[in-house]
Order: sequence, then structure tokens, then C-alpha cells
Amino acid sequence: MRAMNYRGPQRVRIEDKPMPEILHPEDAIVRVTRSCICGSDLHLYNGNVPDTRVGMTFGHEFIGVVEEIGSEVHKLKVGDNVLVPFNIACGKCAFCKQGLYGNCHESNPEATAVGGIFGYSHTAGGYNGGQAEYVRVPYANFGPTVIPEGMDPDDAVLLTDVVPTGYQAAEMGGIQKGDTVVVFGAGPVGIMAARCAWLFGAARVIIIDHIEYRLEFAKNYAKCEAYNFKSMNDPVVFIKKETDWLGADVVIDAVGAEAEGSAMQSITGRKMLLQAGSATALHWAINSVKKGGIVSIVGVYGPTSNLVPIGNVVNKGLTIRANQASVKRLLPKLIEHVKNGTLKPKGLITHRIPLEAIADAYRIFSDKLDNCIKPVLIPSTAKY
Ligand SMILES: NC(=O)c1ccc[n+]([C@@H]2O[C@H](COP(=O)([O-])OP(=O)(O)OC[C@H]3O[C@@H](n4cnc5c(N)ncnc54)[C@H](O)[C@@H]3O)[C@@H](O)[C@H]2O)c1
Ligand SMILES: [Zn+2]
Ligand SMILES: [Zn+2]
Repeated sequence: MRAMNYRGPQRVRIEDKPMPEILHPEDAIVRVTRSCICGSDLHLYNGNVPDTRVGMTFGHEFIGVVEEIGSEVHKLKVGDNVLVPFNIACGKCAFCKQGLYGNCHESNPEATAVGGIFGYSHTAGGYNGGQAEYVRVPYANFGPTVIPEGMDPDDAVLLTDVVPTGYQAAEMGGIQKGDTVVVFGAGPVGIMAARCAWLFGAARVIIIDHIEYRLEFAKNYAKCEAYNFKSMNDPVVFIKKETDWLGADVVIDAVGAEAEGSAMQSITGRKMLLQAGSATALHWAINSVKKGGIVSIVGVYGPTSNLVPIGNVVNKGLTIRANQASVKRLLPKLIEHVKNGTLKPKGLITHRIPLEAIADAYRIFSDKLDNCIKPVLIPSTAKY
């Protein structure tokens, strides 16, 4: 089959790879009909996540058709159209029982933090992902969810990550009616977080980035205010000024390890790899939220440490909430939001690129070219 192959930082290509096989009676093999590239893939692509191995196939956002099932798969049948949450979760361990499906204890037993993730580094279990024609899906009785009749596949593929992550970013912010919410990062995740902040009763939503086309897009899509941090002396002072010098009620970090805006953070975090990526947006979040406020982090950082102003967290009495999104927990609610039109995920998709052109797709998304917000990859075997 044709599959993306990681060759090292900024080097990906499409290659022939062996077809995935059923390795466990609860596995399924899915023929991919759509997959996406995510900001999380960029951390791997740019060499920021330890133990990202040459030869791996990335891709944790995908939908497809069930082609084969193991002898103990009872909840799916061959031919089902499924959306597959990016977290690999058993559904049965103590963490899954709490709804912490991003922290499953079974799917990534050698790690103590994150559970398994499709197409990520070996710190997340080393599972090959969906930027391919076919993919092996473990725990097939639990994760894969049959796509509701009539749902647009472009909406369905965004339910595997972007929509639940944006929603959970807002949810973890504990937004109260009337709150001012600031979102750092106007990528697909930040834009969805800004959109979802309104659902929780925010009175004012502000998004901050430095890429003008994304700010314009966010303004229209999420109906929020949008500002360029490059045109401010200091984004923290800007937010204070905008909030009677108190700070925002809730600040969301939807940037993570690739953050720009501080030479010191970029050099130590992205060039010298002395910390787990650049923590610039997280700094700004901690310093611009009000005393007693909540910082919600969905931006991804590597497993090692980061330079963050922890003293300010203590002295301001902040609550920090963070996680990989628990996709399966949120799906029932989010499927309803998509069905009734409250959320329109496919509006984020700007590019449809054949899987064969994967190297171009990564470059366009990584370098923020051609007004790209979210690219979708289509394998030639997708058949629709
Ligand atoms: N927690 C989860 O479950 C989860 C799921 C999906 C993605 N993520 C993470 O969310 C983050 C965003 O993902 P995405 O797909 O939107 O990525 P993206 O790369 O498309 O977007 C990130 C945006 O942040 C902007 N940015 C850079 N530095 C900034 C700064 N200092 N302040 C404000 N904005 C800044 C960039 O210009 C870019 O537009 C990534 O870190 C990704 O790994 C987390
Ligand atoms: Zn993703
Ligand atoms: Zn589990």
C-alpha cells in the first residue's frame, strides 16, 4: 500500500509499505478515505518530539471503511464507515473508566503520561497512522465510531481531533457566562476553541496569532476579535489594557511547542532543544490571565521540561488544566452539534491534496502557504 514515510526533520515522502495486518483479535483494518495533517504532526515533522522514528507513518486524524476485523470484534462489521478518534484507548482501564481516554493505561504501557496515539512518536506507543491507504486500528470494539448516516465525510474527519480538541480547550477553561476568553493560536484548533468558547457563555472572545490570513479567517469563522502579536509591543500588556488591567478570565494555549514571538524561547526550545519546544504562548497565557483565572492548555509540548513562569502561577492562584482531548467522551455531544448545525467543522478545510503529494501538503501546512488552514489528504483508494 501507499503510505507516508518519515525520513527525518522536514523530510517526508510517500512510499510502498506492507499492508497492515490484524495482530490482535480486537484489531480492525480500515481503508482510509480521508486523513488530515495536524499541528501536532508539525512537532514531529520539525524534529521536536523525542523518539520520532524514521520509517513511521504519521496521521492521527482519519476516517475510512472497515475492510477486515479480528475474531473478537463485535461492535463493527466489514463495510462500516467509521471515524477513528486520535487517542488509542482500551475503554476498560481505570483511566478510561474516568473518561480520560487520552491517558489509557493499556494502549501505551511503557509510558506514564499519555496513552497511545495513531501516527505519533514512540513516546505515544509507536503506532503507524492514517496518512496511508490502510491502517491497523487496535481496540476496535471501543474507539472507531460509525459515521452517522448523511454526515459529510469532511465534517466526520474533523470530529477525530480538531472539533473535540477545540471544544475541550473551552470546556477545561471553565468558562462562565460573561467571561472574556483569550485564545493564543489561530490554527484549526485555536479557531475551533474560539468558536466553542461562545457555546459556554463567553461574552468576549479574542484570538491572537501573527499570521494575518489566519486572523482574518478566525474573525469570520469564529466571530471573534483577532489581533496580531507582531503589531503589539507586548501581548500581555495588550490583554491587560483590554480587560481593565485585570487580565482575561480564561486563556487558552492552542499553540504549543512551535511558538514564535520570543527569540530566547525559540533558540532554547526549537533550535538547541534544551527544552520541550518554545513555551512563548504558555508564558503569555500565564501572565495575561487574571488572578485566580484558568489557563487551559491544548498546545502540545514534548515530554521533557519547559521554562515557564511557575512562580506567577502560584502567586496569582491560577488553575492550569491541560490534556490531550478525550475524543470518545465528547463525540456524542459534538455529533449532535454538527447534525444541528451549531458547529460546521468542514468550513476549516481549505486544501484537498492527494496522498501522493504528501511532501507538498506538509510544506504548505507547515510554512503556512497559500492561506492554508486545514489540509485533507485523499488516497487514490478512497473511491469517493
Ligand atoms: N491536546 C490535544 O488533544 C491536541 C489535539 C490537536 C492539536 N493539538 C495541538 O494544538 C496546537 C495547535 O494545533 P493546530 O493544528 O491548530 O496547529 P497550527 O500549527 O496550524 O497552528 C498554530 C498557530 O499558532 C500560531 N502561533 C505561533 N506562535 C504563537 C504565539 N506565540 N502566540 C499566538 N499564536 C502563535 C501559529 O502562527 C499558528 O497559526 C498544536 O500544538 C497541536 O499539537 C493538541
Ligand atoms: Zn491532530
Ligand atoms: Zn484504557
